[in-house]
Amino acid sequence: MPTYDKSKELYERACRVLSGGVASEFRKFSTPHPLFYAKGEGSRLWDVDGNEYLDFTLSQGPLVLGHSHPEILHAVTEASQAGQLYAGQHLQELELAELLQRLIPCAERLRFSLSGSEADHAALRLARAVTGRPRFLRFEGHYHGWFDSVAWGVGGTLPDMGPREEPTAVPWSQGLPSEIRDEFLTLPWNDLGLVEQLFARHASELAAVITEPVMCNNGCIPPQPGFLQGLRELCTRHGVLLIFDEVITGFRTSLGGAQQLLGITPDLAVFGKAMASGYPISILAGKEQHMRLIAEGKVIHAGTMNSGNPCVAAALKTVQILERDQIPARLKELGEHLMAGLADASRRAGKPLLVQGLGPMFHAGFTPQATVRDYRETLSYDKPAYARFVAGMHSRGIRLIGRGLWYVSAAHTPADLDRAISTAYEVLCG
Ligand SMILES: Cc1ncc(COP(=O)(O)O)c(C=O)c1O
Repeated sequence: MPTYDKSKELYERACRVLSGGVASEFRKFSTPHPLFYAKGEGSRLWDVDGNEYLDFTLSQGPLVLGHSHPEILHAVTEASQAGQLYAGQHLQELELAELLQRLIPCAERLRFSLSGSEADHAALRLARAVTGRPRFLRFEGHYHGWFDSVAWGVGGTLPDMGPREEPTAVPWSQGLPSEIRDEFLTLPWNDLGLVEQLFARHASELAAVITEPVMCNNGCIPPQPGFLQGLRELCTRHGVLLIFDEVITGFRTSLGGAQQLLGITPDLAVFGKAMASGYPISILAGKEQHMRLIAEGKVIHAGTMNSGNPCVAAALKTVQILERDQIPARLKELGEHLMAGLADASRRAGKPLLVQGLGPMFHAGFTPQATVRDYRETLSYDKPAYARFVAGMHSRGIRLIGRGLWYVSAAHTPADLDRAISTAYEVLCG
């Protein structure tokens, strides 16, 4: 059995200086306790005790090319040697913007920020300004960052959430200003009938509908046929902006995001994570008629650290490699192989592991249901059983995200995937 003595000692030390011993809420939930890591390369990661992991967390998604890709490291080093941050424009920033404009259907204009949360925040502000309306529709279980306005309706239990037709948005945190509670109307995802009913009552108050085009943050749930199309039509008819949060789907499902894959163009979209191999950069992209308010300085978007040299270089090189090597198609192939293998392993082991998603990212969890279509149905997942599965995989050198999402990278080999499948079978039988 692996040991984690050095990590444990460092974690105890960290708890005396970092709140909760970590730098982000989601890092608290690691097996057997938050670990310290020393090195990442390709599909592998090593902790300070020398344990090696085949990594399917990919730092919660960004490492689409795997850890420490040599071309990314080279591009970042070269760019940093020319300076770090100019508080002004530079050629690579322009080249990156032009590349993204060519690839992303809704990106007639764009702006760079550092995180998905920031770019989501900018999208909501812009939508309010464009429409002159105060409210938004969001969906239960979707995640749009940790800022105040979107920290409602991220999760909750069935009794807390109330009826499907008129849910109560459950606060995710203490400290949220109560006066913004009504800014967001919340509904279960994938139910166009409920959205139509809500539009009938509230369309004139709505600035935007914000949605992940594939619901990745709870389960990995594809849109029901016609659902996104229906949202698009309702929004167009009522002058409401449609915002796609592509922080997970962007660059993974297709170079132009899920909007390209699914053929639905939103008014605004937000990208982050996989675009820069682990360097902090995100995008707000949108139609020129809306982004014009930012160009004219009527809607403020700013940031001292925006589009620094290393982040832009990492993003430019990442997206160039994704395009050059047709990585999204490869991720789909690898991911589908892994999904099929895990589903087969669970069948052979007689365990109800539902494996659901698109391939480049997917979700696994124990549930008697044959499919899961919205957040409320994800509550059927047996979380303690999955935590035991994750612990079993971890002790055998496979690192997974505790809430069931799996990310595949271009650095994963078919042999890596086969090892994950055979290990999963062993753990499921154990
Ligand atoms: C769909 C989605 N939107 C927004 C965010 C927030 O991005 P960040 O963590 O970069 O602030 C995330 C993060 O996981 C996400 O999954």
